[in-house]
Amino acid sequence: KIDAVIFDLDGIITDTAHFHFLAWKQLAEEIGISIDEEFNERLKGISRMDSLELILEEGNRQHDFTSIEKEEMAERKNANYVNYLDELTPEHVLPGIMDLIKSIKTDGIPIGLASVSKNAETVLRALNLVEAFDYCADASKISKSKPDPEIFLTACKGLNAVPERSIGIEDAVAGVESIKASGMFAVGVGKQLSKADYQLMSTGQLQWEKIKEAFNKWND
Ligand code: BG6
Ligand code: MG
Repeated sequence: KIDAVIFDLDGIITDTAHFHFLAWKQLAEEIGISIDEEFNERLKGISRMDSLELILEEGNRQHDFTSIEKEEMAERKNANYVNYLDELTPEHVLPGIMDLIKSIKTDGIPIGLASVSKNAETVLRALNLVEAFDYCADASKISKSKPDPEIFLTACKGLNAVPERSIGIEDAVAGVESIKASGMFAVGVGKQLSKADYQLMSTGQLQWEKIKEAFNKWND
């Protein structure tokens, strides 16, 4: 029996992971630090302030700014990111996701969200997906970002689900770590996710029957 399926948002439901990257890249360039997509893998699933700290470390500038200046930089990045969200419509739900949600609902299994983003609700609204989720764990409900298990455990609790009988879906290294630390079955979508229990290269490959099969094997 599966208690719940819990989705990451950015990079799984929609490609906002790329918008986060573009917004950080611009901010980083303003202070003379260059970041690429490979470095960006380390920012996925990480809170806004923790991401900024990682970028400053990358440029060896972690001691160059006051906390007020850092707050201001994080706000600037967010303003830039939120601009990209203006273009987001229901057509931007990634391939395979709507079918997957439908199949899970047909089986009567509750669906949750686990996103450390303060913009999670805005993104879900733009995609017209608020109603699809039975429970949303977001930045307002947790104090530690991924890879800490807190966000997935909070989502399980909100759905009355036992983690060991639940499935998490993630595109981030830190996200898969968070799922595993919570005791859940991890579906990883993308590169570098060999720690996942079941790994795919794109959301278009997500098939509910296959995921259930893999979960049942793991659960045996
Ligand atoms: C996560 C993203 O979902 O949210 C991270 O994977 C992002 O890249 C984090 O930094 C925090 O998002 P926000 O919208 O609160 O800045
Ligand atoms: Mg993600």
